[in-house]
Amino acid sequence: MKFSKRLDLFGDEIFAALNERRMQLQAQGKKIYNMSVGTPDFHTPDHIKAALQEAAADDDNWKYSLRDLPELLQAVCDYYKRRFDVEITPDMVMTVYGSQEGMGHLGMALCDEGDTVLLPDPCYPVFAAGSKMGGAVPYYYPLTAENDFLPNVKEIPEDVAKKAKYIVVSLPSNPVGSIAKPGLYEEIIAFAEKYDMLVIHDNAYSDIIFDGAYGGSFLAAPGAKEVGVEFFSLSKSFNVTGARISFLIGRPDVIAALRKLRSQIDFGMFLPIQKAAIAALTGPFESVKEQCKMYEARRDALCNGLRSIGWDLPNGKGTMFVWAKIPGGRTDSMAFCMELMEKAGVIVTPGSSFGPHGEGYVRFALVLPPEKIGEVIAAIKDAGLGC
Ligand SMILES: Cc1ncc(COP(=O)(O)O)c(C=O)c1O
Repeated sequence: MKFSKRLDLFGDEIFAALNERRMQLQAQGKKIYNMSVGTPDFHTPDHIKAALQEAAADDDNWKYSLRDLPELLQAVCDYYKRRFDVEITPDMVMTVYGSQEGMGHLGMALCDEGDTVLLPDPCYPVFAAGSKMGGAVPYYYPLTAENDFLPNVKEIPEDVAKKAKYIVVSLPSNPVGSIAKPGLYEEIIAFAEKYDMLVIHDNAYSDIIFDGAYGGSFLAAPGAKEVGVEFFSLSKSFNVTGARISFLIGRPDVIAALRKLRSQIDFGMFLPIQKAAIAALTGPFESVKEQCKMYEARRDALCNGLRSIGWDLPNGKGTMFVWAKIPGGRTDSMAFCMELMEKAGVIVTPGSSFGPHGEGYVRFALVLPPEKIGEVIAAIKDAGLGC
């Protein structure tokens, strides 16, 4: 049978080779430090688990939900006001099964064959996957060290901007760890207004931001609600990655478009998960702040440690990742990842998997405590992979 051409849009699983070798090394008893996965190792707060358990005990909550609970939509609106000082109304909010799924389907709801979309390079891979599934052709705008890994819309050629349907922006940024600087969102909004395009902001890491910086919402910028939507994920702030809780928030016509597409293939989020989301949004916030400090301590341990053995990298400013230039003049990130795993037992993600401008870099996930990160640094040094 001939499967859809759509599958040809996607390359082979680049992690398969890394994974296979990891399992062999583990079977041989080699000590492995896995810093490639983007899944937090912190606990899910008890009040969120309790809300889910209580709701799951009620048979009624096992039926098709068919809609987003009005109290959940209101909880998101209240949270946005309290946390980001952004006024939104329930018609500007919908649930998605994680920003990953939402981004995938949004591309299908917005794009037609041959449309142009603007994506960061490097970027979280579903930005490209979702756009391509909608038939769009991505134009990648580079995030480079020279520009602090931030979008520079002035560099996007006018003929490309004129035909672009949307631009995806995501700060704090995975994988590069950059954060918005003052005036940046305003610049992007003016650009979107000028060329009549939508801004899709992916806000997954506003609560993991360092050195006293403020993690806000794109929708707080003047004019943002007219040109944009924002994915707001609970995954990383509340350690609920497996529960798949995120929201698309912003322009009601875009929300309605995605809702129309998804209603053809979906009957709504499991009610106990909706109740757990309400508990997260209305419950205590202290643990989220504490967790941010712990991520910062890990960032410090990793960045200082790598510099102490000769790597050249700035401090990541946000997210649960650190973006590091490969040492010693090497450029092939996949080959370096293999070497790092073989010789040091440290697993990281090759930068090339996030786009062409990711080549020459690797991404570390901050999923180990500082003392273990100390062991990682020692292992890299002992393997001769410092500078
Ligand atoms: C930039 C970015 N967006 C979205 C996600 C995924 O969020 P969700 O769990 O809501 O799909 C991640 C997870 O790593 C991410 O890094």
